[in-house]
Amino acid sequence: MVDFPSGRVKKLHIKTYGCQMNVYDSARMADVLAPLGYAPVDAPEGADLVILNTCHIREKASEKVFSELGRLRPLKERDGTMLAVAGCVAQAEGEEILARAPYVDVVLGPQAYHRLPELVARASRGAGAALDTDFPVDVKFDHLPAPSASQGPSAFLTIQEGCDKFCTFCVVPYTRGAEFSRDGASIEREARQLVDGGAREITLLGQNVNAWHGTDGEGLGALVRRLARIDGLARIRYTTSHPRDMDDALVAAHAEEPKLMPFLHLPVQSGSDAILDAMNRGHTADHFRAIIGRLRRARPDLALSSDFIVGFPGESDDDFARTMELVREIGFAQAFSFKYSPRPGTPAALIERQVPEEVKDARLAALQALLKDQQDAFNAATVGRTVPVLFEKPGRHPGQLAGKTPWLQAVHALAPATAAGQVLETKIMALAVNSLAGVIVDSSVEAGERRSA
Ligand code: 5AD
Ligand code: SF4
Repeated sequence: MVDFPSGRVKKLHIKTYGCQMNVYDSARMADVLAPLGYAPVDAPEGADLVILNTCHIREKASEKVFSELGRLRPLKERDGTMLAVAGCVAQAEGEEILARAPYVDVVLGPQAYHRLPELVARASRGAGAALDTDFPVDVKFDHLPAPSASQGPSAFLTIQEGCDKFCTFCVVPYTRGAEFSRDGASIEREARQLVDGGAREITLLGQNVNAWHGTDGEGLGALVRRLARIDGLARIRYTTSHPRDMDDALVAAHAEEPKLMPFLHLPVQSGSDAILDAMNRGHTADHFRAIIGRLRRARPDLALSSDFIVGFPGESDDDFARTMELVREIGFAQAFSFKYSPRPGTPAALIERQVPEEVKDARLAALQALLKDQQDAFNAATVGRTVPVLFEKPGRHPGQLAGKTPWLQAVHALAPATAAGQVLETKIMALAVNSLAGVIVDSSVEAGERRSA
């Protein structure tokens, strides 16, 4: 055990890059450091400890770390701010970080967050930079403290980490390691703690969240039903899924469990079978169509999101046309699309037929224009409807709250602060910039009653 100095409040600034799993991890790092007297602050200036929680998925994300470290260096030199690099760049390039930025105090991979206090204490004793990029995921979850209430009405809960799928473009299997599922009882315990702390919605997280399985072989569908029994929990979501793990029990949960929200992020990456094969996705475009068909039969109002990569090595005009065709056919409420970025150590980076940058640019622009049209049409179709909104936090203007529809659309409406954490029937009046403008039509809000969904 390490002895921690107590005393004055220390300022902690965490900057998070990348996916929602990093958002969750950042919250847990803050929880782990709270007993040492660290309280979160919004800016790095004046902080005692700055943690960069990094993303390695594409080159741009990865390079940001080094430019941010360059900006932080003067703070370190002036105020003695301690600098830590966490997350997937730390995991993949720990030694390189210490070589390129030797002023960094702590480098720790995603499986070492429970050891943060010890690493920080070691670095603050001047014992040199502390590096921990080991892989034992199970140990981490056993050692993290109960989550604090800091996540608010909509909380994240990591239930699964890592990936064994080895898509040929992706670094995740190397940075986050093999698939690991947390056990159901500890997930349920954490979910109850989150709900006791004010969460009304929980998003279950994992790199391959629908590959989750319990010790008795039960899958994510069973876990969703188990968590749905928690009183006070109104909404359940999960992300990110893989088409190959979309089993019947999970599809049935979409049909039968009203707390499971009708929105699914299911990455397909490409509409071309040749490219899907070269990506090692393990499914064809028609498999994906069939899965969407089953899901829509189970839950007709299901809205879909996906990830796409354009310019994967060898992608021809015809391959790209198939991606556009798939998008037109399925219709997405929102989606993420990226230019292929060769990642060190992944098989696709070694393929010789790389697509020229200007071709990637043109394909990305065409795909994003189509996806934007679909997203706009989806949002426009909500105008005039009355839908349940979970209000989460203050909106942009005084007197407003911001919340989400079941389909993950952002809504803002005039509402008393007491409406935060409530699911309220809201009439959508208009499209606004990046959100929908609504009016609460739920009479219970005026009476100040607390309503469960
Ligand atoms: N290049 C471009 N996009 C990538 N993604 C993952 N790896 C790469 C890469 N090398 C995208 C995929 C994945 C999302 C999280 O990031 O679409 O689903
Ligand atoms: Fe990466 Fe593929 Fe695993 Fe997703 S399924 S994390 S894209 S290797």
